[in-house]
Amino acid sequence: MKRVLVCDKVEIEELRLGEDFSIDYRPGIAREELLSVVDGYDVLVVRSRTKVDREIMDRAGSLKLIARPGTGLDNVDLDYAKKKGIEVVNSPEALVEAVSEHTILLMLALSRNLVEAVNSTLSGKWEKEMFFGTELKGKVLGIVGLGRIGARVGYIARSFGMEVKAYDVISIPKGTLDSLSAEMLDLEEILPIADFVTIHVPLTNETRHMLNARRIGMMKTGSYLVNTSRGGVIDEQALIDALRLGRIAGAALDVFETEPPSESLRKAPNILLTPHIGGQTKEAQRHAVTIIAEKIRNYFNTVR
Ligand SMILES: NC(=O)c1ccc[n+]([C@@H]2O[C@H](COP(=O)([O-])OP(=O)(O)OC[C@H]3O[C@@H](n4cnc5c(N)ncnc54)[C@H](O)[C@@H]3O)[C@@H](O)[C@H]2O)c1
Repeated sequence: MKRVLVCDKVEIEELRLGEDFSIDYRPGIAREELLSVVDGYDVLVVRSRTKVDREIMDRAGSLKLIARPGTGLDNVDLDYAKKKGIEVVNSPEALVEAVSEHTILLMLALSRNLVEAVNSTLSGKWEKEMFFGTELKGKVLGIVGLGRIGARVGYIARSFGMEVKAYDVISIPKGTLDSLSAEMLDLEEILPIADFVTIHVPLTNETRHMLNARRIGMMKTGSYLVNTSRGGVIDEQALIDALRLGRIAGAALDVFETEPPSESLRKAPNILLTPHIGGQTKEAQRHAVTIIAEKIRNYFNTVR
């Protein structure tokens, strides 16, 4: 019997592991308590709250697998897990639809002044003449990072009649490019021609401040910037400056260098901010646990 400790709130009914596993569901377990009970568990299931560091791993004599439904693994000491031979799995594939739809939502909200129009109408005003928008149809969408989410955003954007240009560091399969009718270009070729730029890369040493002052300065006048990937990919001060100068028409961000976002970012003109909710749909959260259950079962079926 494999023992599984679930330390954070998850859609537990989706964690269907079968009779070879016993599951203890202790969402919100305090660190001291975790340290005292962790020995004897084969699997830890965590979200972002529980920090799985050296101390926890050293106490967990039987631990073989750390499973994180969803994406971020910032709370797990991956190097130390590797050193101890503890496998770490997550399920980023579960969030693709949610983040892609959120990205399209932000593009539409920017282009139709949605938030301002709603706030104005809720306040009792009728400022019909104030809110002239633009359409997505016929516009150029620049996708930075044509991975799982970037490609799905491109696919939805195509159905709006957008033209897709993309930049990535890997070679993208021809089938993907054909389905998007996408052209691959260098980042600095995309920035001057895109009406919308949307970012879908991981945060790495190469992508940190990838959108810096010089590159934001290369963006087409009146264009929009959307980021649902990771804070830190955009130099936020450079973005604030560009918005203040009216160089670009607007920006929408779901992720920030520091979360919650700084006051200067919150006060920038023509900006929409959401609290890192790209992946937060009921479907995605359930799917993330279903996939994690499958990965846990596969691990013990194939490895041990
Ligand atoms: N907002 C949210 O709640 C939320 C939820 C899930 C994922 N995300 C983020 O969305 C992003 C994309 O996730 P994904 O699942 O599509 O990842 P993915 O790995 O499928 O795709 C990332 C793509 O970026 C490319 N890339 C890497 N470095 C690059 C560089 N220097 N220049 C250009 N391209 C580069 C990769 O080759 C890959 O094609 C990640 O940052 C992820 O953390 C955010």
